[in-house]
Amino acid sequence: MPHPLRDPDTFAGTAPLTDTWKPYRGAGGPVWCPDDETTGFWSVFDYASAVDVLRDPARYTSRAGIRLAQPVEDLSHVSDRMLIVADGLAHRRLRRPHSLLLASDRLTEAVGQLRAMLARRIDQLCATGEAFDLMREIAWPATALVTRALGFESSLHEVLQRAVEDGFNEQDEAGAVAGRVDLFGLVVDQVLRGDGCAPWDDVDEAVLNIAGILNGGLETTPHVVATAAMLVAGRAFDQHPGAERAQEVEEIIRLSSPAMHTMRTVEVDCSLQGVDLRAGDRVVVWLPACNSDPATYDAADQFRPGRARSLAFGFGPHFCIGHEIARLEIDTVVEVLMAAPGELCLLEQPARRASTFVNGYEQLMVSFRPTTGRS
Ligand code: HEM
Repeated sequence: MPHPLRDPDTFAGTAPLTDTWKPYRGAGGPVWCPDDETTGFWSVFDYASAVDVLRDPARYTSRAGIRLAQPVEDLSHVSDRMLIVADGLAHRRLRRPHSLLLASDRLTEAVGQLRAMLARRIDQLCATGEAFDLMREIAWPATALVTRALGFESSLHEVLQRAVEDGFNEQDEAGAVAGRVDLFGLVVDQVLRGDGCAPWDDVDEAVLNIAGILNGGLETTPHVVATAAMLVAGRAFDQHPGAERAQEVEEIIRLSSPAMHTMRTVEVDCSLQGVDLRAGDRVVVWLPACNSDPATYDAADQFRPGRARSLAFGFGPHFCIGHEIARLEIDTVVEVLMAAPGELCLLEQPARRASTFVNGYEQLMVSFRPTTGRS
């Protein structure tokens, strides 16, 4: 039997995710999770241990992969060429072209277009008053800044989003392979068609890292948008009238925590919060658990803008390089939802998807009830 935390079904359903972490929370520090399919792995559920692990790539490397479900051998040939699984000098070299490409000041015009496109769509949805899936109608289109930053035609956005969604599906291996094939095909076309592989050194590096950006950017933010929408529907913002928008956005991201885990492999025997770890051990950091650690966050399930910065974007050298774009997208969505000429209503409690890696929803059924708006 695989350990329950390796089973995607453990995370599915409508029960609060905080219930999943409860049996594992103790005094803090890593918890050993025995597993028949592998030898086992350490799990981290507390904020302090997560920071210790994520800030120290010399002890805890990403080079052997950051996903529990991924076989180590898959990555040995790319670990100096793909940002997310590189460390040290290779990581620093790869981070620079990413920063150039994803700089948010290049996206001012695109943000205006995104705002106008979402506002138009919301006006139409308000006018019909019909039930709709917010993931498809608002959350997926909201990630347009990522594909725009990478220079893709806007007509390809939905196809790319679908390929990433399918490529992450842990319940359908054949569909996931097909999704990844589609994704890499589209990326290769883009690299060969556009201005070559710039700003990377060669085509392989460009393809690997563009695919990595698309994975990182398209499979996370839609779920934060869903959380934002649920908070708007629940009038959570009204409870904190003095909060700044930037604080609201940070708190939405913490509550959503769409990256379920990231993983490291121990490089040298060491001790984490007093627990001895051996070289080769895997350490899985469960980010939503750390972002609801009661030692750091009082009443963690409540929306309270102005809290301590969360670990939703990670910590240390691998801190999410798309964080500015993600914040811009979420800020834009909150703005247009708050200004909608209708009241957003949840039609059902959405079910979390069966996934060990993505904390989010397949579908979020909502409608706009006619009102005079709230902005
Ligand atoms: C709210 C949305 C997002 C969340 C919660 C999120 C979360 C994360 C986390 C936790 C990491 C660190 C992984 C690790 O330490 O192993 C990360 C890294 C990364 N993210 Fe994001 N991400 C988001 C949006 C984006 C966007 C919009 C992009 C692209 C535009 C992106 C691209 C990346 C890349 C390329 C990395 C690798 C950075 C590195 O290894 O140096 N992410 N993200």
